[in-house]
Amino acid sequence: MDEARRRIEATGIGFSAVALKHDDTPIGFCGLVVADLEPFLPRGTVEIGWRLALPFWGKGYVTEAGKALLRHGFIKHRLDEIVSFAVTDNNRSTAVMKRLGLQHDPARDFDHPRVPDLHPHLKRHVLYSLSRSHWEQGVEVEKAGFVQPASDPIHECP
Ligand SMILES: CC(C)(COP(=O)(O)OP(=O)(O)OC[C@H]1O[C@@H](n2cnc3c(N)ncnc32)[C@H](O)[C@@H]1OP(=O)(O)O)[C@@H](O)C(=O)NCCC(=O)NCCS
Repeated sequence: MDEARRRIEATGIGFSAVALKHDDTPIGFCGLVVADLEPFLPRGTVEIGWRLALPFWGKGYVTEAGKALLRHGFIKHRLDEIVSFAVTDNNRSTAVMKRLGLQHDPARDFDHPRVPDLHPHLKRHVLYSLSRSHWEQGVEVEKAGFVQPASDPIHECP
């Protein structure tokens, strides 16, 4: 928690707890963070990431939170691009990326430098990305059935 708070104070973005609306039960975390992955990603690249406790998978919670975070990143922070990455066969995570309108960019796939060589099957990561212009046009999000006017005020995030 201290590290999450420090990152939010330093960059204005970071991982936050995700809680159920009706009773505030904490179910995981989700957020926009500045990736620390040079030279694979240019300095300042912002990623969207998530993790939920297992009982709360399969209900659309991360897609709902991710949709709000994209709006927050593109509208409030005026980001040009948001990326997300995961181990190649993490199909649940890449399914969320696709639902949010991110697209696989195979030329930017990479071997994660902080995954030890002892776990070679976890090293290869796929990179998905979404530009602000694509998000604004609603091209990708419309395919997923999530169209939001780009001028909507933001209520979901600090
Ligand atoms: C990645 C992770 C957060 C995805 O969770 P998830 O529950 O699959 O994702 P969502 O919350 O978006 O839910 C999508 C599912 O809910 C269903 N759903 C129900 N209502 C929905 C709605 N209103 N909107 C979208 N999806 C909905 C979808 O059909 C989908 O179902 P499926 O599992 O049968 O395909 C979860 O698997 C996890 O925490 N994994 C471990 C950590 C991890 O891998 N993190 C990423 C590291 S890079």
